[in-house]
Amino acid sequence: MTKEQEKRLCGIREIVVLREDARRFEHTMGVYRECLWMSRVFSLSDGDAYTLCAAALLHDIAKNLTAAEAIALSERHGVVLDTEIPSVIHQYTGAMLAGELFDMETVSPEMLDAIRCHTTGKADMTPIEKMLFVADFTEAGRKYRSCQEMREYLHGECEKINKNDKNARLRVLDEVTRRITGYTVTYLVERGKRIDPRMVEAWNSMV
Ligand SMILES: [Fe+2]
Ligand SMILES: [Fe+2]
Repeated sequence: MTKEQEKRLCGIREIVVLREDARRFEHTMGVYRECLWMSRVFSLSDGDAYTLCAAALLHDIAKNLTAAEAIALSERHGVVLDTEIPSVIHQYTGAMLAGELFDMETVSPEMLDAIRCHTTGKADMTPIEKMLFVADFTEAGRKYRSCQEMREYLHGECEKINKNDKNARLRVLDEVTRRITGYTVTYLVERGKRIDPRMVEAWNSMV
């Protein structure tokens, strides 16, 4: 990444730390470090690495908003939130809030798109969208067994692949994205919870 991009990431971090409690910020930094690692492993350009790492820092920025704040934010953007699943709302409000807090040199449409689907996924995700979706699950601070297994699989498979074989690494990314989606769908079904239709669409687009 360029010095300018690193400076922008520091600026984002200074705002995010004020908006997240200590535990959430620790998770955010875990996702950020996982995305930094992915930037190297997937040989991303400076521009893509910046997009991914900035999206990582910003992805949960709206998680602490109250319902009233989330509604007010959506109204300012002329958006009707089309989900009633509380844990899903913050992916949309997060993208809106990031767009409000930073200028368009700092945040980009690709970045906001990745934030907008980091919880549910969606059909035909771009590699950067998949990376944020996966990193949110595989970051080192997640102690659940399922998270550890996905992390070990991702890191283990990537280590085995020849440095120049970018396509093989992208196939691993696809496989981890599919496994995490499948695991989450199963988890929700087993507990009788609702599934956001975008997650079902994501699953269908991968099988
Ligand atoms: Fe999130
Ligand atoms: Fe997260």
